[in-house]
Amino acid sequence: MSALLEMRGIEKRFGGVRALRGVDFDLVAGEVHVLLGENGAGKSTLMGILSGVIAPDQGSVSIDGRPVHFANPREAHAAGIVMIPQELDLVPGLDIAANLFLGNERLTPFGTLDRPRMLAESQGLLQQAGVSLDASLPVSSLRMGERQLVAIAKALHAKARILVMDEPTAALSATEAEHLFRTVLELRGRGVGVVYISHRLEEVPRIATRVTVMRDGAVVGQARPDAPQAELVRLLVGRPFEELFPPRAEKPGRELLRLAHAAFRPDEARAGWQEPRDVSLTVREGEIVGLAGLMGVGRTELLSALYGFEVKGRWSGEVMVDGRPAALGTVAAARQAGIAYVTDDRRGTGLILNHSVATNIVMSTLKRITPFGLVSRKLEARQVGEALSRFDVRPPLPAALVVNLSGGNQQKVVFAKELLSEPHLLLLDEPTRGVDVGAKAEIYRQLRDLARKGLGVLVASSELPELIGLCDRIVVMHDGCTVAEFEAGVGEEELRRASMGETRAA
Ligand SMILES: Nc1ncnc2c1ncn2[C@@H]1O[C@H](COP(=O)(O)OP(=O)(O)OP(=O)(O)O)[C@@H](O)[C@H]1O
Ligand SMILES: [Mg+2]
Repeated sequence: MSALLEMRGIEKRFGGVRALRGVDFDLVAGEVHVLLGENGAGKSTLMGILSGVIAPDQGSVSIDGRPVHFANPREAHAAGIVMIPQELDLVPGLDIAANLFLGNERLTPFGTLDRPRMLAESQGLLQQAGVSLDASLPVSSLRMGERQLVAIAKALHAKARILVMDEPTAALSATEAEHLFRTVLELRGRGVGVVYISHRLEEVPRIATRVTVMRDGAVVGQARPDAPQAELVRLLVGRPFEELFPPRAEKPGRELLRLAHAAFRPDEARAGWQEPRDVSLTVREGEIVGLAGLMGVGRTELLSALYGFEVKGRWSGEVMVDGRPAALGTVAAARQAGIAYVTDDRRGTGLILNHSVATNIVMSTLKRITPFGLVSRKLEARQVGEALSRFDVRPPLPAALVVNLSGGNQQKVVFAKELLSEPHLLLLDEPTRGVDVGAKAEIYRQLRDLARKGLGVLVASSELPELIGLCDRIVVMHDGCTVAEFEAGVGEEELRRASMGETRAA
């Protein structure tokens, strides 16, 4: 089979960082070439070069055996290369249809925008991508997972010869990921070459026809698509690797959070916002409690309403913090109560992209560092240095701009920042999205260490293995209500059934 794509000897430096060191990469028509590698290995950079976003320092790219030079994404697009980037480039202020047709608008014979036609075609594209959303909804009102699906619909619309998917399932539920796999297989059948980047190793045998592993800017090996996960992990991390999940805690302590038949009513009704309607759960000192459930059942809404984040409203029912009734609902109240929150959208809410890593990390601690209104540079530098090494942020440069870090390393910065505020209760929404398997293990270990010292954690995740491996208890939500609770040791199947609303516990 002749190569659809050949990349040879690709080199790229960003200042002192050698992001790619002589990388070769091939793609043939009708294959799914999975690209694996630790955070910062160079995966997105390599694909950025292919799609004309980044200029290589050296090396060649050929399509159908002919050398090509893309000066910008538009030229790559014209050559049939379509990329769904890791950090989505949708315009939040525009509706779905306008995003799908951005730069490619349908016009009436009079030269005006043909909205009805764009809406109708958009609806078809969404259906193809497996989403039931109204195309006239603004992107800003969509959840992360829904945005991801819109980005996928947009890519399908572009009729690619080469489709690059950079962590497409990071924010998707299991069902949505299934649909995506079917779509990818269909594209394969039509002869599209797909490059697929993911940190979810369990996906590899489902879709890969070829697997390449990168580390530190170089290709370090190939793996068979059906290779056991342990082998993939070894190639990825480059060292023996035993335990992803740390051992569980001993006895939990006093109750940090207690919700009993709690409901939250936002001041302003919001389309698609699932109100917490009847929530009962507790989080004690030293405990990691999981929140399971399908996408859209209200997990994110529950966490953001507890923190008072981007929503105003009132809680009713029993809401107790530290054994006392608490008036949660504003960020100030939450922080006062020792609650910290990591949202599922690191770019939208967690980080200031154009600021340095150091500034981002100390943001949450400014008060503590400056007891007398003075910033102690020395103390600050020490705290930042410690946080960077504790979370293994790469490169460990306090002055680096967050926007220039790889996706997984940005997520580590979000973590470092929130934990530095020394919360009692930590609310986490999809905390390891885009984080590689080695760094995940490190984050889990940090959480357990802090739990051992008394921290309570409430964590929502759509990755069931993560909840099962990490949590002491798992609460399942459905339709804005908590419907079941399981002790550690529950199986995936049982959780899945409960998530579908099939059991109803007292
Ligand atoms: N614009 C930039 N300026 C400076 N450094 C950069 C820039 N873009 C990428 N880098 C660096 O290049 C290296 C490779 O980054 P890249 O985003 O390609 O990693 P990745 O394999 O996609 O990781 P992840 O799994 O976390 O997404 C990292 O060290 C990153 O910090
Ligand atoms: Mg990346």
